[in-house]
Amino acid sequence: MSKLAVVEKLETMREAARMGGGAKRIAGQHAKGRLTARERLDVLLDENSFEELDMYVEHNCTEFGMEETKIPGDGVVTGSGTINGRLVFVFSQDFTVFGGSLSERHAQKICKIMDMALKVGAPVIGLNDSGGARIQEGVASLGGYAEVFQRNVLASGVVPQISLIMGPCAGGAVYSPAMTDFIFMVKDSSYMFVTGPDVVKTVTNEIVTQEELGGAVTHTTKSGVADVAFENDIEALLATRDFIDFLPASNRESAPERPTADEWDRIEESLDTLIPANANQPYDMHELIRKVVDEGDFFEVQPAHAGNILCGFGRIEGRTVGIVANQPTVLAGCLDIGASKKAGRFVRFCDAFDIPILTFVDVPGFLPGVGQEHNGIIKNGAKLLFAYAEATVPKITVITRKAYGGAYDVMASKHLRGDLNYAWPTAEIAVMGAKGAVEIIFRGKTPEEIAERTKEYEDRFANPFVAASKGFIDEVIQPHSTRRRIALGLRKLKNKALENPWKKHDNIPL
Ligand code: HXC
Repeated sequence: MSKLAVVEKLETMREAARMGGGAKRIAGQHAKGRLTARERLDVLLDENSFEELDMYVEHNCTEFGMEETKIPGDGVVTGSGTINGRLVFVFSQDFTVFGGSLSERHAQKICKIMDMALKVGAPVIGLNDSGGARIQEGVASLGGYAEVFQRNVLASGVVPQISLIMGPCAGGAVYSPAMTDFIFMVKDSSYMFVTGPDVVKTVTNEIVTQEELGGAVTHTTKSGVADVAFENDIEALLATRDFIDFLPASNRESAPERPTADEWDRIEESLDTLIPANANQPYDMHELIRKVVDEGDFFEVQPAHAGNILCGFGRIEGRTVGIVANQPTVLAGCLDIGASKKAGRFVRFCDAFDIPILTFVDVPGFLPGVGQEHNGIIKNGAKLLFAYAEATVPKITVITRKAYGGAYDVMASKHLRGDLNYAWPTAEIAVMGAKGAVEIIFRGKTPEEIAERTKEYEDRFANPFVAASKGFIDEVIQPHSTRRRIALGLRKLKNKALENPWKKHDNIPL
């Protein structure tokens, strides 16, 4: 064969691989409102940055006539590319090839890029669209999954791992995404479940649709398995580009700095009137967050799950901060099981990747109730407490209003090695609200006496100065200068060095 012919043959082979399962199946994918594996990578990555690996890999299955049907690439497109110039490793399952199902070789391709990502320190982004284990391969496929799981665990806390669920994700296939740091889903197009509606019906007699059982809305509201639900593939992929900009490439690197025109000492007069006169009236904590971070840019994770706590990323002076905030508009901002699990995991992500944590506190306590107790608020609430206490990254806390009881301790208090603990003049730091406190210590008194004592208790404790007099609050700050104080604090803490005692690993209450 002439040199030219060899070169042409290579192009022909590449073209065959790019066609995946063929024009008909590609059309089928489009008809479902989904992009193909390669089209998704085109949207996700910088133009012309994708470098593919293992394009010619084929499966090695000889059962059920499989030797007759070999498609180059074997149902997954893998390689690396850049997002806004920064290296990422990617795999994108191709539903047009055996339904994107995972064979031994398909798994090996994913493992190869995970190993490389771990070696060089770069994020792994998985685009999942798969019918699960390649049924014809049996245990070889199960082994393949386990190889991926093992790498998910080794990579956890070393490089960020993000999963996009863009089609079916059934059976054991859900466990690889479950071990990654963040999961994004597409509404009415993706679902995740361990067993599908048919099996559920057989075993428990429950009748449920795929969407109800494990769709994007279910997992971003009820179960909390996924972080954000997007309208379509393109929205999910573009949001992932924005999201990755907040994150460091690995635990050995800092998050990228984004230049900003937002003045570091911007004064926000409107924050002085954010807290309503009535202590029981809610206000939206989003407003405070958006007014403090650069250009109001806040990427919220799990916005629709456990809304009584807000978690997400923003920037101060161009540098990423993780933000955790009680949300008074939902359950008065109480800590419950869902909020503790959500925020606990978020705090641990930030700590693993050296992202400073900014905590805004307005918390009346843990949510009371039989359901909460019986479902383990003790152990689950301890997750957030544990996460804050073990975190060694810079921790800045601002108490805007209530900080009552155990929840005061939990929310990055001074006692949990908070570096800078600020309070607004409107802060109330006490064991509990005045009324509840007085009803306990003055039980049996007349309503007049109770009212008088309540007033007395409020005057004494509904302020930040008792805590400040003990050094538990470093400074009582003006709400309008919150951004300036935080920016100065983060500058001071930039080179913070703090280590926990040596241990193999801790034993967080799971
Ligand atoms: C091999 C598969 C496949 C699979 C789909 N295909 N799933 N091939 N192994 N797991 C193939 C189909 O044969 C078909 O091939 C093509 O992919 C598209 O599938 P359709 O069924 O036509 O598509 P659709 O109607 O959209 O349905 C998608 C689906 C369904 C819901 C995912 O295919 C399905 O239920 N698949 C099986 C799911 C499953 O039970 N997987 C195993 C789970 S157990 P042609 O040639 O016709 O295009 C598991 C264990 C892992 O994953 C454990 C790890 C610890």
